[in-house]
Amino acid sequence: MIEGLVAIAQEELMHFNMVHEKIKARGLVLGPERKDEYVNLLYNFRRKGGSKTTRLIDHLLFAAIIEARSCERFSVLSENITDPELKEFYKELMISEANHYTTFIGYARQYANGEDVEKRWQEFLDYEGEIINQFGVKETIHG
Ligand SMILES: [Fe+2]
Repeated sequence: MIEGLVAIAQEELMHFNMVHEKIKARGLVLGPERKDEYVNLLYNFRRKGGSKTTRLIDHLLFAAIIEARSCERFSVLSENITDPELKEFYKELMISEANHYTTFIGYARQYANGEDVEKRWQEFLDYEGEIINQFGVKETIHG
């Protein structure tokens, strides 16, 4: 799992740099990090107690749901944006996020050690379905 996670971390950093280059190329400056209440709520949904396996599964599923939503939104962006360069860029990010999402779910299943990952995944999805109603329609990848 370590090698897979390192590969994802490297890819994420590469994508961050690509996004930053695009921001600079447009004469813009990257703003400060914004508080992301959606992510914080999902993060806090993780079980804090229990076994190492329980905590690992929840952390992997938290990461998976974030990646899955990123994938979904990059898909929408790539299908609707008119700029051909960004269209292709967002499509690449969508594919990458799909791989990250399935990788995290895959690790949760692989390291489940008898725990019911599918049940917990459904709990994450149900919880997300509840909290998402708190957020409006903003130009964010998450929330
Ligand atoms: Fe990702």
